[in-house]
This record gives sequence, C-alpha cells and structure tokens, in this order.
Amino acid sequence: MELTVVPLHLNKKYMSSCCNLINDEWKRSETARMRSLECSSDTLPTSLIMLKDEEIIGHLKLSPIPSLRDACFVESVVIEKGLRGRGFGTVLMEKAEDYCRTYLQLKTIYLSTKGQEGFYSKLGYTECQPISIYGSYVPTASTDNIKTDSRNNEKSQGAPIPPPMPVNNFKTNMKTYMMKNLI
Ligand code: ACO
Repeated sequence: MELTVVPLHLNKKYMSSCCNLINDEWKRSETARMRSLECSSDTLPTSLIMLKDEEIIGHLKLSPIPSLRDACFVESVVIEKGLRGRGFGTVLMEKAEDYCRTYLQLKTIYLSTKGQEGFYSKLGYTECQPISIYGSYVPTASTDNIKTDSRNNEKSQGAPIPPPMPVNNFKTNMKTYMMKNLI
C-alpha cells in the first residue's frame, strides 16, 4: 500500500474528488467548496491531501493566523468514511506537522474541534485559548513592526496587537481550541 500526503495545488486532478470527500462530511455548495480549494498554494492557505494507491482518502487545510506569522490553523481534517479508525488520520496529521515544520518553517499548530478532542490529544495537542483566524496580518513587536521613521530616524511601533477574544474559558460556541508546538 502506497500512502502519501501531498499539496492539492500540485495535484489538481484530485480537485473534484477532494471536493466530494469534504462535502460528504460537511455539505456546502460545490462552487463555494471548489473556490476555497483553488486558493491552495505554496504559502498559506494550503490544502494537503492523503493518497492511498493514488486514490484520495483524506484532506486537511492549513490556514494562516493573521496575528501569528509562525503558526497556522488546521481545518477540515477528514478521512473517507469507510476508512476511519485505521490510523490514517494519525498519519495525515503527522505528515501535515512535518510539512509545517520543514517546508513552511512554522513553530505552532492551532485548531478547534467539537467532538474530536480525544483524537488530537493522542497526537499531543493540548487545550488553549481561542484564537481568531480573521483579519489581516498584524506584525508583532519582535519581528517587522519596528519601522524607522524617516523624519526623525526614531523607531516607532506598528499597529497594536489586538486583545485576545473575550472569553472566560477555553471553549467558545462549544468548540475546544487546541495547540501543539512543533519544536
Ligand atoms: N475521540 C477519541 N479518540 C479518537 C477519536 C475521537 N473522536 N477519533 C479517533 N480517536 C482515536 C482512535 O481510536 C485511535 O486511537 P488508538 O491509536 O488508541 O487506536 C487514534 O485516535 C487515532 O485514530 P485514527 O484511526 O488515526 O483516526 P481516523 O483515521 O479515524 O481519523 C478523523 C480521525 C480525521 C477525526 C476521522 O475520524 C474523521 O474524518 N472524522 C469526521 C470528520 C471530523 O470530525 N474531522 C475533525 C474535524 S476538527 C478539525 O478539522 C480541526
């Protein structure tokens, strides 16, 4: 059995079957789903697919987190219905972590789940505060927001980092947010 995990945008012949695989779990219009999958690229967002003997059996999407440039948010993790509970989801997640660590050079993976906490716990994910994947990139003080003001040659701060989402615990809308450090 040959098992590989590859980027969807480099294997476009699987676009339609990938759409069906995801829509079989989370129904959405084919047009909207295809538009989302077509966004996959070498930089985030990236859709990774799992192939077993050249048949697509799994998918996940790595999305950017505007406030954290060295992290990503994993979404839409799915294994074909008839093949669950055989370790394929574990392999898919482990290969995705390798891809994030080695190719994208990311340090942390975040995700949210409602019901699959046990699966991610076994993979080393722990509960964390909710994180927003909306908005545009906000540079951090430690990276590229130190700008030189050409008039007075003083260093000035960029836009402030938005405050954490106002929640009292780690569950929002019944979702559990989880994270894993890749180092
Ligand atoms: N709760 C507790 N343990 C679980 C769960 C769960 N919900 N799901 C799997 N496990 C365990 C398995 O029993 C197994 O344990 P073992 O190593 O002791 O035998 C271990 O986790 C690994 O299981 P796999 O066989 O690798 O998982 P699988 O191939 O079934 O893939 C997946 C897991 C992706 C969650 C699959 O069941 C699926 O596609 N589910 C439907 C879609 C879904 O809910 N996706 C997750 C959405 S959340 C997100 O995308 C961030």
